[in-house]
Amino acid sequence: MAPVGPLPAGACIAMRIIILGSAAGGGFPQWNCACGNCARARAGDPAARPRTQSSAAVSADGETWFLLNCSPDVRWQIERTPALQPRRGIRHSPIAGVVLTNGDVDHVAGLLSLREGQPFALYATGRVLAALAANPIFDVLRPEVVERRALVLGATLPPCGTGGEPAGIEAEAFAVPGKVALYLENPRAERFGTVAEDAIGLRLSDTGTGRSIYYVPGCAALPADLGRRLAGADLVLFDGTTWRDDEMAASGAGEKTAGRMGHMCMTGDSGSLAAFADLDVRRKVYVHLNNTNPALLSDSAERAAVEAAGWQVAEDGMEIAL
Ligand code: MLT
Ligand code: MN
Ligand code: ZN
Repeated sequence: MAPVGPLPAGACIAMRIIILGSAAGGGFPQWNCACGNCARARAGDPAARPRTQSSAAVSADGETWFLLNCSPDVRWQIERTPALQPRRGIRHSPIAGVVLTNGDVDHVAGLLSLREGQPFALYATGRVLAALAANPIFDVLRPEVVERRALVLGATLPPCGTGGEPAGIEAEAFAVPGKVALYLENPRAERFGTVAEDAIGLRLSDTGTGRSIYYVPGCAALPADLGRRLAGADLVLFDGTTWRDDEMAASGAGEKTAGRMGHMCMTGDSGSLAAFADLDVRRKVYVHLNNTNPALLSDSAERAAVEAAGWQVAEDGMEIAL
């Protein structure tokens, strides 16, 4: 894959998204997993390419970048993505902000790796910001250096450069069906104490072209209003955690269903393949794939079925310009 760097002067500017990590929490292969998929990845099988944990980077100008979630693999993700590396002076980063879609470990643990006194802004719902604030280890991102900005459901805001300059992007956070982070689950509460701000999707629009990317790496269902929101979109990156709802149990890797984990499986009447079939989305890309998902394997029947339904399965380093 060609390295991704700043665009040459005069090049046509379009909003770009780079998939930094296409796997769900645990990555692919996962440290303690010997499932068939993970074994093939470890053996270097080209049809089972390793993947890092869930994250993407977006920019409207190729200069100012925003991370969408911040995975435990962020250091390596930056090192293999030239666009995200320092290029002005001894201490610099083109990363002006991190936008979180939930408080899950795979989406927030990488924040601890961005602790070297570098200013950027952290965007998340009040609920997720409160979870981070309640955990003093995240104070390594000193609030006077890393500003916290609340995402209000249904409202838009312009994520901006570290000098407050506009970055050509408008972001909207919207609630999606989901689940509170695992470490915050209340076993006695209904839906483990989940509230609307626990799981969001993002619309990222290029203020120059008006085109939008929808980034929804965790979503437990597609109710009609969410379907209407996504209908006709240019690009949707969507939760591809599992192929079947009982995949963990069926593969012997665990007990929880995808639904129990706050994710929608691909197949079945309530799966994402069926839910998107009539939404007329121009480009549909699965992200956040669990290592047990057979669609991860580029030579599988499941991958062929996904592609026949008009989807792509993200790989690390995949870049899409709108
Ligand atoms: C998930 O997507 O279900 C979470 O990443 C699970 C976790 O926090 O390990
Ligand atoms: Mn996850
Ligand atoms: Zn595995």
